[in-house]
Amino acid sequence: MKNTIIAPSVLAADFANLQRDIEMINESDAQWFHIDIMDGVFVPNISFGMPVLQAIAKHAKKPLDTHLMIVDPDRYIKTFADLGCSTLTVHYEACTHLHRTLQAIKDHGMKAGVALNPHTNVSLLGDVINDIDLVCLMSVNPGFGGQSFIENTYKKVKQLKEIITRNDASTLIEIDGGVTNKNAKQLVDAGADVLVAGSYVFGAENPKHTISDLLSITK
Ligand code: DX5
Ligand code: ZN
Repeated sequence: MKNTIIAPSVLAADFANLQRDIEMINESDAQWFHIDIMDGVFVPNISFGMPVLQAIAKHAKKPLDTHLMIVDPDRYIKTFADLGCSTLTVHYEACTHLHRTLQAIKDHGMKAGVALNPHTNVSLLGDVINDIDLVCLMSVNPGFGGQSFIENTYKKVKQLKEIITRNDASTLIEIDGGVTNKNAKQLVDAGADVLVAGSYVFGAENPKHTISDLLSITK
């Protein structure tokens, strides 16, 4: 039986009722909070920044899985550690010295994640896979919730799983974008460990049941 981690994306929450939606995640079968930070430069959208994350962290009772869609993420590693993030994921495409960035994240007591855009080949991580706690495969182009899942992701999950196994690494594979009950099982069967779901969860009539359903179909 697989123990898939469901990480609802707070980006799709109702920001006018943020505490209510955070409590819903606290009470649900979800294991993590997925936090999307966008700077309007790396991606063509701005989400929210430190004061909002601080408010989320105050109420969240589960680990904060923070996905930075920003340029030059090294500038903010300490800030996100101080805000209580458990995993800090940076984009491969935004890091010139990825190995150094990963070490800095770990030196600040967080798990180190690397996100890959849909066009970025998983083989590029071969030489650093043992330094990465989590690879976030983007199954949409980052920047917006509610987009359609890119089918090529299944192939990438299998290729990445093969690299992880070959290197005897314990890296988790996370899928981010367009996750629904239609693709969750196939993703987990291909090797995914963590499923991020934004609009599918928060757009549902009963988000808490939707999280439970998502979890049960992956078993
Ligand atoms: C996209 C973000 C995702 C997004 C997922 O750039 O990284 O985490 O919130 O939302 P859905 O599940 O709606 O595609
Ligand atoms: Zn994300």
